[in-house]
Amino acid sequence: MPNAMILKRTSAFAIALVLALAVLAACGPEKTAKEPAAPAAAAAAPAELLAPVPPMGFNTWNKFGCNVDEKLIRETADAMVETGMLDAGYKYLVIDDCWQVDRDPSGRIIADPQRFPGGMKALADYVHSKGLKFGLYSDIGPKTCAGRPGAAGHFEIDAATYAEWGIDYIKVDWCNCDDLNAPEEYARFRDALRKAGRPIVLSLCEWGRNDPWKWAKGVGQLWRTTSDIGDEWQSVVWIVGANSRLADAAGPGGWNDPDMLEVGNGGMTFDEYKTHFSLWAVMAAPLMAGNDLRGMSEETKSILLNKEVIAIDQDPLGVQGRVVIERGYGGQVWMKPLADGSKAVAFVNYSGRELAQYVRWSQIGLPPGPARIRDLWAHADMVTHTDTGKRYDERFEVKVPSHGVVLVRIWPDGLAK
Ligand code: GLA
Repeated sequence: MPNAMILKRTSAFAIALVLALAVLAACGPEKTAKEPAAPAAAAAAPAELLAPVPPMGFNTWNKFGCNVDEKLIRETADAMVETGMLDAGYKYLVIDDCWQVDRDPSGRIIADPQRFPGGMKALADYVHSKGLKFGLYSDIGPKTCAGRPGAAGHFEIDAATYAEWGIDYIKVDWCNCDDLNAPEEYARFRDALRKAGRPIVLSLCEWGRNDPWKWAKGVGQLWRTTSDIGDEWQSVVWIVGANSRLADAAGPGGWNDPDMLEVGNGGMTFDEYKTHFSLWAVMAAPLMAGNDLRGMSEETKSILLNKEVIAIDQDPLGVQGRVVIERGYGGQVWMKPLADGSKAVAFVNYSGRELAQYVRWSQIGLPPGPARIRDLWAHADMVTHTDTGKRYDERFEVKVPSHGVVLVRIWPDGLAK
């Protein structure tokens, strides 16, 4: 048979050559032909896998503003490992505004050579060597909020540069963008990231101006829902009120972002910071520490490193908790259902004096009967409590300090471990 003869005579080298040519021939035109269809290909990519649970990490802005440099980032990376932050789940180290100064003649973004003399690639390598992931900040418009070069007109080259540097997370702001269409612009930025070929978390930061909870899932993995947080109690109260109304939008792959943490920055009391952290966890918010991690007090560590509270935030069911009881005199009860069938319940006190707060099992979706209750700040089991639903005095009651929280996890009897 002629075919058999040809095959016999064909050397392994020739087969390899033919195969290589065939692959080249297939890839070349296919790549070109597929270019216009990029959005369809992009839509099929599994973006949700980038954030099955709310992202956790550190961001420079709340504490350091524009005062960022590579020494701070290296020291923070070291601190994230040494303090146990990484072990607790904080893995993204993100430089916010002011790392960038200009563009070169080809349009490529330039990191501040005074503050980052080693360049971003080397810094990314260092951060990665610690087992962390690395993030940067940009803006959809021509300038960032601090007046640095934004991404406008440069989405693709920026995305390619970030991929080349090894960036894992990009926060994209909305300053100087007022006449632009947010859903379209952010989708274009997402497509540029996908074209660059590296999985990069996209953190949308348009402060809830364009109702991102209605369209941002599938565009980015988290979207700010409010204007900037401040290191004060009233700011937390205001943000919680706004973010609490958006629970329907959150879930694995896409999260409401009520802004970064202020825990440890000094403007609130210990109780207020515990309430801030508890509510972010119950709201399944991204947990981006915003304090100086290089010299944390024991109090600050006891909040940021509370693994039982972090587990509420990171629970794989991915439900944003809701207010189940609103008491007119400043008390609120929140419930977040968890994957193992237990419930996280937060009793919050916005008033200026201690409040007794209570809940019935029927109000938090628990069956009548006994339940095991664990106090997640005291790290201790409370008594097993029984609410048969038949008697008023069976309600479960706690005392909550002013501006404070009692955060418990409740397992109905059958599930108790
Ligand atoms: C905006 C954002 C902040 C921060 C600053 C940086 O205000 O909302 O989180 O990124 O810009 O300039």
